[in-house]
Amino acid sequence: MTPVSKAGKLISDVLEKGDLSMPAKVDMDKIVSLCKRRGLIFPSSEIYGGLASCWDYGPMGVELKRNVRDAWWKSIVHERDDVVGLDTSIMMHPGVWAASGHIDSFTDPLVECKSCHLRWRANEIEGDRCSKCGGELTEPRMFNLMFKTSMGPLEEEASTIYLRPETAQGIFINFENVITTSRKKLPLGIAQIGKSFRNEITPGNFIFRTREFEQLELEYFVKPGSDEKWLDYWVQERFDWYVRLGIRKENLRLRQHGKDELAHYAKDCYDIEYLFPMGWSELEGIANRGDFDLIQHAKHSGRELSYYDNKADEKYIPYVIEPSAGVDRSVLAFLIDSYDEEEVEGEKRTLLHLHRSLAPIKVAVLPLSRNEKLTPLAKEVFNKLCLNFVTDYDDSQSIGRRYRRQDEIGTPFCVTIDFESLEDKQVTIRERDSLAQIRVPIEELRKNLEAKLKGEAFDASPLWATREK
Ligand code: GAP
Repeated sequence: MTPVSKAGKLISDVLEKGDLSMPAKVDMDKIVSLCKRRGLIFPSSEIYGGLASCWDYGPMGVELKRNVRDAWWKSIVHERDDVVGLDTSIMMHPGVWAASGHIDSFTDPLVECKSCHLRWRANEIEGDRCSKCGGELTEPRMFNLMFKTSMGPLEEEASTIYLRPETAQGIFINFENVITTSRKKLPLGIAQIGKSFRNEITPGNFIFRTREFEQLELEYFVKPGSDEKWLDYWVQERFDWYVRLGIRKENLRLRQHGKDELAHYAKDCYDIEYLFPMGWSELEGIANRGDFDLIQHAKHSGRELSYYDNKADEKYIPYVIEPSAGVDRSVLAFLIDSYDEEEVEGEKRTLLHLHRSLAPIKVAVLPLSRNEKLTPLAKEVFNKLCLNFVTDYDDSQSIGRRYRRQDEIGTPFCVTIDFESLEDKQVTIRERDSLAQIRVPIEELRKNLEAKLKGEAFDASPLWATREK
């Protein structure tokens, strides 16, 4: 793989060009309410009154989240020959965090209101009074964001360990293992998906900032000197990934970190920002971490973490380019960007135009009514389809209501079985976005849906090109 230089052009084209005055298209309350109503995301521990900023993914949410992870893994690991995967433990030797700088530097400045005792990140406050009650604030003190716990049965003998605040360190400490076992040459990427934990001072905005979240991280090891062009390359790749999966380009922009804002390990960093309802905010960061992490771990562990290029007969410590995204934040951006309300025959229709690869349910099998003559054929169709696609079967309530329920979770295709189906062995496929319908023989249904789920155009004949609810 060689980096393409057009990333430089992308950077200059979209760098902070997003329209600052653009109003957010949907408010967060609508998204939160749809997620609750349709089994995507629930407040955690709800029957106990909830736990602040913790969320549970419901039956539809778990599918959506899995699809986001799979889309990332496919494009980062399976579709390339220069990236391998890894799954490391959440709890690691405490030395890891001393070496990485997280014990000393993974801190936010915290201030507390002397009247209402609310805590704020000092850099979020404008002026020197509490944003809630106007009270006097304490002097800022540095607050470490790592969650601490102890390992071992006896507290006094147990060692203090931390829940990882990023998955990246699990990758750095396995660099030697992967290089020696994968028989790959540099440039080489190591990818990991997993939970991370940060004791955020001000979590919020639904699943945007939480204390437990999931990351999609790639550490791409390159020869020093080639790092800048690889940074460009990965900025382009990652920007395009969101666009390929349906996020509108005008809702994305790039922002380069100022020198004063760079993380303690970073030489350079770009954020891909999305226009969330609360404004432009980070969706993913792509950082040039230089050789900071490998040098630190070599120093603290006593192991030599370098790379020997036997062709060139040279040894060096690789630089690292790190695209780091959040699963939950991506889910939120995909939900917001695909959310739509329209009027169909005088009624409001709410729908998610989710990319077909992300939609939790691909096909819904809907008999026209719960009728003893229709049920056996409808079940037969379901039993065949569910072997190939994530399929839902629903025969409750009116067909119109069932269509609306599927629209709200973004199901691309509904298959309707009616009384004619019993005679002609054909069923109707209804497409979510256009509402067009086609009639196909049951025998060809699987093949037909397979092609459409791969992106084949929905070619409704004039006879069937209707927009029915
Ligand atoms: N290893 C680099 C790193 O962790 P980061 O910018 O702190 O960099 C990367 O985090 C991504 O992880 C963010 O762009 C965001 O998508 C996600 N993320 C970070 N903190 C989060 C939080 N508290 N809640 C949800 N997602 C978070």
